[in-house]
Amino acid sequence: MNGTGLGFNPNYDTVIIGAGAAGMMCAVHAARPEGPAVLVIDHAKAPGEKIRISGGGRCNFTNLEAAPDRFLSLNPHFCKSALKRYTQWDFIDLVRQYGIPYHEKTLGQLFCDTSAQDIIRMLRDEMEKAGAILRLETSLVEFSKTGSAFSLVLETDGKRIPVSCRNLVVACGGKSIPKMGATGFGYRIAEHFGHAVTETRPGLVPLTFGPVETEEFKSLSGLSCDGALACSGGAYGNARFEEAILFTHRGLSGPAVLQISSYWREGLPVTLSFRPDLDLLTELKRQKRENGKRHVATVLSDHLPKRLTQAIAERAGLTDGNIADISDKVLADLAASIQSREVMPAGSEGYRTAEVTLGGVDTDGMNSKTMESKTVPGLYFIGEVVDVTGWLGGYNFQWAWSSGWAAGTAISSTDG
Ligand code: FDA
Repeated sequence: MNGTGLGFNPNYDTVIIGAGAAGMMCAVHAARPEGPAVLVIDHAKAPGEKIRISGGGRCNFTNLEAAPDRFLSLNPHFCKSALKRYTQWDFIDLVRQYGIPYHEKTLGQLFCDTSAQDIIRMLRDEMEKAGAILRLETSLVEFSKTGSAFSLVLETDGKRIPVSCRNLVVACGGKSIPKMGATGFGYRIAEHFGHAVTETRPGLVPLTFGPVETEEFKSLSGLSCDGALACSGGAYGNARFEEAILFTHRGLSGPAVLQISSYWREGLPVTLSFRPDLDLLTELKRQKRENGKRHVATVLSDHLPKRLTQAIAERAGLTDGNIADISDKVLADLAASIQSREVMPAGSEGYRTAEVTLGGVDTDGMNSKTMESKTVPGLYFIGEVVDVTGWLGGYNFQWAWSSGWAAGTAISSTDG
């Protein structure tokens, strides 16, 4: 069994690069107890590190609303087949089989009750049952293809190990959170084999602003408010998200901001709105009529956090006086500045904090049913490395499960 003295064989049917969400799911379905050998390698010390830290340690593992229109790609049709054949309900079934307690937090987002480790343990267990071999602290350092076999050089413990395989699955994720070992290595493998890679950029990431707004937002740091953010003319069309907005000492974050960041592009403004559920101008006019002696900041604080209303009143130069003394025109401007304020992001916090990488291996070169390369038989791309990116809320893991399943079942159905 030990062809190298380090626990590796010289030949495998399938080698999967990356023991993250997609790689582990693929291994579960590519391997069979008495079937051809499936090896999963990862340069990290533990598998599923991003699963472990996801969802604040509770892993938002899927979304009840998962559907193709919640995924961004140059080809929005590509994700359809995999998402339809391995759905959120399939993954929920697996979670239930393992008795893992979970709950819906909001907007269809399913989280573990206890710990993300439950999901990692489940996948490791499934891999073991299927007979997949996991080797950690192992990197892929060289790769080529001659005839029908891939020749790889793996490196572990300072030693180089040549192995060959019939199928090579690239599941090494994107560029987000380099501190956790993300390298973008998968794109290099794709390009080496002649695949196009679409422009990659940080997605689901906090936005940063110029000095004036940064100073303003910094003074509100830590404050969160129900709101909406909209952006028009981005790479994936117009978008608007109604969720919480969080002020930070560097700019804006929170679910609505992370969502819009995937659509935003340099040079485009975003429209910021607080309490979009409220007809604020009508409410201000009513208060002017009925409670004219109230101060405008006090009226606003019926609906918005106090610190925010104070800042809004200061910015509008309305710190003194009663609401009755303010003209309807000024009230209209005030309501507009709260509910449809255009701000120009300067950039984003980048891959350091981005939850995902937008773009990736161009889906034009891939089979949407199997995730296999159209030009290099036996080469597969799954998960985040592919140009398919989900919304915030469990969609990215669902893509990892669905694409991993699609490649895994395709491999096990052709292994003779
Ligand atoms: P993933 O990055 O998980 O795995 C890739 C693996 O490849 C890693 O284990 C890495 O070590 C390994 N690797 C890389 N290069 C290698 C090399 N050269 N050799 C060997 N191994 C290599 N999504 C969601 O749906 N719900 C959520 O709650 C969250 N929360 C969340 C929080 C945070 C902080 C982040 C950063 C991200 C999320 N996400 C998320 C996104 C989610 O984590 C992401 O979409 C999936 O992990 C992608 O799965 P993959 O398996 O494709 O890559």
